[in-house]
Amino acid sequence: MKQGKQISVGLVGLGRLGRQHADNLAHRIPNCKLMAVCSVIPEEVEEAQQELNVPYGYTNYEDMLRNQELDAIFIASPSSYHCEQIEQALEAGFHVFSEKPLGLYMEEALRVQKAVRKHPNQVFMLGFMRRYDRSYAYAKKQIEAGAIGEPVLIRCYGIDPAQAMPGFMQFAKSNYSGGLFLDMAIHDLDLARWYLGVEAERVWAIGGSHRYTELAELNDAETGAALVQFADNKMGIFVAGRNCAHGYHIETEIIGTQGSLRIGTVPEKNQVMILDDRGVVRECANGFLERFEQAYMDEAVEFVQAILEGRQPKVTVEDGVLSTALGYACKESFESGQLVDVRM
Ligand code: NAI
Repeated sequence: MKQGKQISVGLVGLGRLGRQHADNLAHRIPNCKLMAVCSVIPEEVEEAQQELNVPYGYTNYEDMLRNQELDAIFIASPSSYHCEQIEQALEAGFHVFSEKPLGLYMEEALRVQKAVRKHPNQVFMLGFMRRYDRSYAYAKKQIEAGAIGEPVLIRCYGIDPAQAMPGFMQFAKSNYSGGLFLDMAIHDLDLARWYLGVEAERVWAIGGSHRYTELAELNDAETGAALVQFADNKMGIFVAGRNCAHGYHIETEIIGTQGSLRIGTVPEKNQVMILDDRGVVRECANGFLERFEQAYMDEAVEFVQAILEGRQPKVTVEDGVLSTALGYACKESFESGQLVDVRM
């Protein structure tokens, strides 16, 4: 594997998020060259190659892995492919970035952990991009500096815009998303572990589908809540949903022994206030691409930098495994109505 100044990346998945990663990798990430793109849809490959000047295009992932000019693989394919594609890329000798989740089942997350441990000299990074969002990173620094004393409780809302629901329903009927807690709450569950500095022990989760009742038929919920007991008697309250009327509502509160921090309490689009015949209006961010635009860039910067510096990024495969275990416990509790023990 060459250790030059520029890292050549091959990206798989050119959908909603993958296309944004492609733009970033091609234009906005220092010391990075987007050398190859791959999707099962040939038109997506052609479009990205032409638009972003990408030398190699593939409709078959294994063909891309045979390209000796690549240093790293960036995975933004559907969740059901992550586990196998990570294993294959590591085995072929590449550094690997994968979108969350590690896999759709606990067994898959553990398979990825095993593969990553087998290749300690290759960089592996999981896309928990919220840790790279400026506000979330600033909150972490404040906690480390003792600004709120000891963090003891975290309250998180992660609710997708209602206007994305028809698209999600179409997706959910043909693809397994992992369910509300694994698909939507996973970032919050990771943040809770990160801020509280302890692991989850027990969880009770509930949920319901009131506007889109079809979700109940898929054994999923449109809105759900989980109450989590962490070690050292710390606490987490998580609300996840897919039916937010005003837009993309990502809100976090961390209560400490000497103060609290709030991030995104009013999830504004920007600093602009519109005063018109509706009254005083603050518009809302409308989805993950808008809200976390900067974080998607900075996580890719960290991945490339880690490769160049020969170190592992701060987000580890263990973070992925432990968050997945907690997400699974939420799902199990929601489905069974029982309190579930998370300790592994
Ligand atoms: P999408 O369905 O819009 O795009 C999937 C892409 O993968 C398409 O280009 C499709 O043609 C391609 N693809 C499908 N099967 C393939 C295969 N076998 N080989 C190669 N390419 C294949 O999906 P979306 O919404 O972009 O999500 C992708 C991943 O990113 C998911 O795992 C999702 O969980 C994750 N995600 C993470 C977010 C975050 O905030 N970190 C936000 C949204 C999605």
